[in-house]
Formats: sequence, C-alpha cells, structure tokens
Amino acid sequence: MALTLTVQPLAPALGAQVRDIDLSEPLSGETVAAIRAAWLDHLVLVFRNQQLSDAALVAFSRRFGDLDTVPGWEPYSPAGFPEVLTISNVTEGETSIGVLGDGEAAWHSDMTYLDAPPPASILYSLEVPAEGGDTCYMSMYAALEALPDDLRRQIAGKTLNHDSSYDSSGRLRAARDHVRDVSAAPGARHPIICAHRETGRAALYLGRRLNAYVVGESVADSEALLDRLWAHCDQEKFTYRHRWQPGDLLMWDNRCTMHRRDPFDPAARRVMHRTQIKGDATILAASI
Ligand SMILES: [Fe+2]
Repeated sequence: MALTLTVQPLAPALGAQVRDIDLSEPLSGETVAAIRAAWLDHLVLVFRNQQLSDAALVAFSRRFGDLDTVPGWEPYSPAGFPEVLTISNVTEGETSIGVLGDGEAAWHSDMTYLDAPPPASILYSLEVPAEGGDTCYMSMYAALEALPDDLRRQIAGKTLNHDSSYDSSGRLRAARDHVRDVSAAPGARHPIICAHRETGRAALYLGRRLNAYVVGESVADSEALLDRLWAHCDQEKFTYRHRWQPGDLLMWDNRCTMHRRDPFDPAARRVMHRTQIKGDATILAASI
C-alpha cells in the first residue's frame, strides 16, 4: 500500500506543510520517496515542532543527497558536524557564532555562481525573534508562467552570468576583485529559462540581481532587461511567507525558487542550522 503523507498547501504558488511526522525517527525509503515527491510538487516543505540534534538533521538531510560544506565557513559548523552551518546574528564576546546573521535580505537562490548549484537547502530553527525575520519564498515556475510574451521572447535562449565576487551579505569573497564591468564579472553562466531536471518544468532562473549580466547584450540593454524581469517577479502572488517558530524545518528546491529574509531586531537572537545538498548537475536550458 502506498504511503500517504499529510500535506497541506500553504499558498497558491508554493509551500506546503507536512504534518504528523517526526523527522528524528529513522524514515523508511517509502516515506523519503513521498517527501521527495511532495517537495517537487510544492517546492518548499514545512515541518513544524521538530526536535532534531545535529546528528538527526544530518541523517535526515543525507536521505536526499550528499551534503555540501562551504569553504571558509568551517568555524561556523557545530563541533563534529562539518555539513551543518550555523546561521545566526548572535555573538559571544567578539565572536559571531554563525554566518549571514543580518544578510540574505534580498531575493536570491543559493550559490548559483557555481556551475552545479545545490539543488536543495534545509534550514532548521533553534531560536527565532518574536517579531520579524520571516523568510519569503518565490516560485520561479509561477513567475515564468505569468511573464508577458514580449519579455519571454526577449530572454528566450539567452544566458545569464551569475557573478561570484560577493557573498549573500554583499561582502567580497576571498581572491576576488570588486566588479567594475558586469560583462567581465567571474561566475557561472546558466540559461535564463531553465528546465528542472526532475520535473521537466520550465522556470525563470535569475540567481540574484547584483552584477547579473545577460550574455551578449550591451551592459545598458542587459540592465534594462534584468530590471524588467525583477520588477515582474516582485508580485506577492508568486510567494509564500514563512513566520518561523523554534523547531521548524524547511526544505526548499533551489532550482525553481528564490528566497529572502525580512529584517529583525538585531538585539533579538536568531539561531538556525542549515544543511545543503551538493549540486551534481548543470542547469539545463528549457526547450521553448
Ligand atoms: Fe540563501
């Protein structure tokens, strides 16, 4: 008998809550397959009221692929768990306990400056502010489906350079120079309209706005095109807003969503543990 998960959609465009499941327990292959299918359908899955050790978070995450570590961020992993990254604004003395504490406020997909970006990210909340700090997610399937025809024609078959010079908080990465000409920025090139490797569905694939460049266009034309695309995406109907509670675990598809975070009181504590599935494939162009 096929296993049925209790999956409740949270917004028209994307997001669903999976109920009645304890992720600290070992999961059967059938359950993992059902979670995977729900994740491909809903793009962002929400599991509430979980109590996960780092070992349990890693064990759950590994059911969906090999896990990434982020070079340079080793000091922000809990002892013994290099696959777990602490995301926090909290400092102990002079030392931050995590990364990206007050960053990631603008829409983006994770690490699209790589040739094979991570397909999935998993974020588990330990401490959250009473107010603010919501994370919003956007369906890039929905954003593409609603794209005006003239704009779709302008980007058909085009490639975008995803700059690798800065991290999500706008800081220059090691061994990188400031970008003075976006058309010469380092990074990875991906199709603007991609085909999801597992669902086959077409999605807009934008990465982030900063220093993006439509390959082959003049910088002025690329900027104008990207401004129109990003303005189009800025519509609530493409989004789901997540208000965090401690014990929430969110798992999102990085290939067909973007996310951003609301501001919050810097004096409040926000502590999350993240894992990321290692990318093993390039981004396919959609045949349109
Ligand atoms: Fe992110």
